[in-house]
Amino acid sequence: MAEYDSIAADYKKSKFAPWRIAVEVHSLFNLLGDIRGARVLDLACGDGIYSRRLRERGAARVVGVDLSSGMIDLARAEETARPLGIDYHVGAAQDLELGETFDIVFAAYLLNYARSLDELAAFARAITKHLRPGGRFVGINNNPAHAPERYTATRPFGFVKSLQPGASLVNGTAITYTFFQDDHTFHFDNFYLDPQAHATELAGAGLEDFAWYPLQADLSILTPQDRTLDWDGFVASAPVLCFSAVRR
Ligand SMILES: C[S@@+](CC[C@H](N)C(=O)[O-])C[C@H]1O[C@@H](n2cnc3c(N)ncnc32)[C@H](O)[C@@H]1O
Repeated sequence: MAEYDSIAADYKKSKFAPWRIAVEVHSLFNLLGDIRGARVLDLACGDGIYSRRLRERGAARVVGVDLSSGMIDLARAEETARPLGIDYHVGAAQDLELGETFDIVFAAYLLNYARSLDELAAFARAITKHLRPGGRFVGINNNPAHAPERYTATRPFGFVKSLQPGASLVNGTAITYTFFQDDHTFHFDNFYLDPQAHATELAGAGLEDFAWYPLQADLSILTPQDRTLDWDGFVASAPVLCFSAVRR
């Protein structure tokens, strides 16, 4: 069973936390820019939340792929309830062979599942295979430059990161994300790979100009109470970061 099968409903709900909307969604769509008419592959699409947003913002075709059948069940249920013409598939991103190329490959929290440079390279090769020349790879990921001393500063936003006792950040180290939701917690692990590894492994697979982008916050959409949180601190010591690269 894929890790997310058992937390699919909790994870889906977590996407409506204030930081997800005011920072994550805002930053990603600023970076994506105008996507009208684009063909987009949403890798590690989860319950399809970004697949739907991409389609609603004008993407002509959206295909979502995720390892977890529980997540894809949720995505397909949404598609049945409110059809947007999105195709969803269960599959491992690194093994993907859709036989189709896209203008954009989008990946929210996929790369941080690579446990080694080889696994990151395998993701990168699959992404290149599904991008047309000049197509963009855009997404969001664990911020490898986030200092472990700051991992609990996000508690007021509803989640923290942690390392195993005594662990330090070397390639492959597990980083546990714990979410505090309603009256319970749930958690999952990501894996640390150093910031330079991303640029190197992606370039090796033909994805150039890899760059990390700072987060941006749109406080206008928050309630007055949520606006009082330390958003400047969240952005300055960002737990996650956006990125983009271009297929040569
Ligand atoms: C943090 S969730 C993000 C889901 C979605 N992108 C979002 O932003 O809501 C990470 C997702 O990556 C999926 N995943 C992990 N490893 C994967 C792989 N090798 N191939 C495809 N999906 C993978 C998990 O099943 C999970 O749904």
